[in-house]
Amino acid sequence: MPVAKSSRHHLKAVPAPAELAGKYEVLFDQASDAILTVLSDGKIDAVNQACEELIGCHKTELIGQSVGSLIPRPGTHRIPERSRPLTMELFKQAGRYEDIAVVRNDGYVRLVDLSIRHVSTGQGIAIALFRDVTEKKQMERDLITKHAELRDAYFQLEKRNAELKAMQETLVQAGKMAALGELAAGIAHELNQPLQGIRGYAQELQAVALPIVNKHPASKEIETDLGEIISCVDKMAGIIGYLRAFTRGSVENHESTDVHHAIDEAIKMLSRQFQSRGISVERSFCEKLPPVYANPLQLEQVFINLATNGRDAIEATGRGRGLIRISTRAAGKFVEVTFKDDGIGMNDRTKSKAFNPFFTTKEVGKGMGLGLSLSYGILSKIHGSIVVESELGKGAAFLVRIPTDFRELA
Ligand SMILES: Nc1ncnc2c1ncn2[C@@H]1O[C@H](COP(=O)(O)OP(=O)(O)OP(=O)(O)O)[C@@H](O)[C@H]1O
Ligand SMILES: [Mg+2]
Repeated sequence: MPVAKSSRHHLKAVPAPAELAGKYEVLFDQASDAILTVLSDGKIDAVNQACEELIGCHKTELIGQSVGSLIPRPGTHRIPERSRPLTMELFKQAGRYEDIAVVRNDGYVRLVDLSIRHVSTGQGIAIALFRDVTEKKQMERDLITKHAELRDAYFQLEKRNAELKAMQETLVQAGKMAALGELAAGIAHELNQPLQGIRGYAQELQAVALPIVNKHPASKEIETDLGEIISCVDKMAGIIGYLRAFTRGSVENHESTDVHHAIDEAIKMLSRQFQSRGISVERSFCEKLPPVYANPLQLEQVFINLATNGRDAIEATGRGRGLIRISTRAAGKFVEVTFKDDGIGMNDRTKSKAFNPFFTTKEVGKGMGLGLSLSYGILSKIHGSIVVESELGKGAAFLVRIPTDFRELA
């Protein structure tokens, strides 16, 4: 019968007890997990090769030693975060424990997953199985760090992307503005002709009609009105002049320019506004300031922008008064102009973006956010520069550097 055959065969294969013990000893010794048996008094009874490697110590030194030598001490050994040190209590309780810190013979701490089993022999042996997970845990930690780094990089990328998008929108906007600028320049040119016509006719009326209506009761009124027409036309011509100053054609109109005169002209334009807002202007002009080779109208525009910003910054304090200090000095091949105000000042964000086109902190309709970027553009073209120093609540100081002759620098 096959059963009998097989049982006979099985019986034949049973090794002798000594042979069996030798076989299990080899299995015990060669097991990939570190195995350690502990007696009830806490003394190490047996260890396998993997355990020798884990502890870094030969079995002859380990056997008979207290298992307490594997317990790390907080002051002496570095116990990794989120792990717990081995304790004598763990050997008393059968179970599985993760991330247990054990100390090697050389003082280094390893992380293991620990499994405790109790064997009911007379000596009350506890079998401890250690699986070294130090590298695995390290890899896990590295992975967590890498993941965090990746997440940071992703956020950075998203931020950059948003900045790029904003920049793209600004560029589109700037393109529109450039087209609008050219249109405005064209309109300005066209309007100038009829305006000069109106001025001419008004002047003619002053000369021809006033003597005729001299005796009329409304003659004084007619005279005042004609004067008003001429002054309004002059104002409009002035505005057109500034519009044209922004267009490309006028960029080339460089000439020897008196910087002080350009500053004075700019302040003159704003003097009424300064008066009504209690803003005083203090000039500290260098006596022998050399002229600069530039477009006077454009320089004037830079100073108008700076003075206007000073005005707004002072007004924003709500104090009802303020001071703009303008100083000049000759600095080698450059002329330096400083506009300093005691207005609200700027925080770091505003300071870093102030020269960006269309950046404004002013309410809609009050600022376009173009003053500083245009000023920067005007100065860059003649190899000049403009920088700002400011702190929130402490006013702002703009330093403008203009080369005396940019052709020498080019
Ligand atoms: N003197 C200053 N003090 C405080 N903040 C300033 C000063 N000058 C400029 N700024 C800040 O820089 C921003 C940009 O200035 P910029 O002159 O370019 O534009 P704007 O004044 O807002 O508008 P626009 O000049 O087109 O009328 C302002 O909105 C303001 O926040
Ligand atoms: Mg401005």
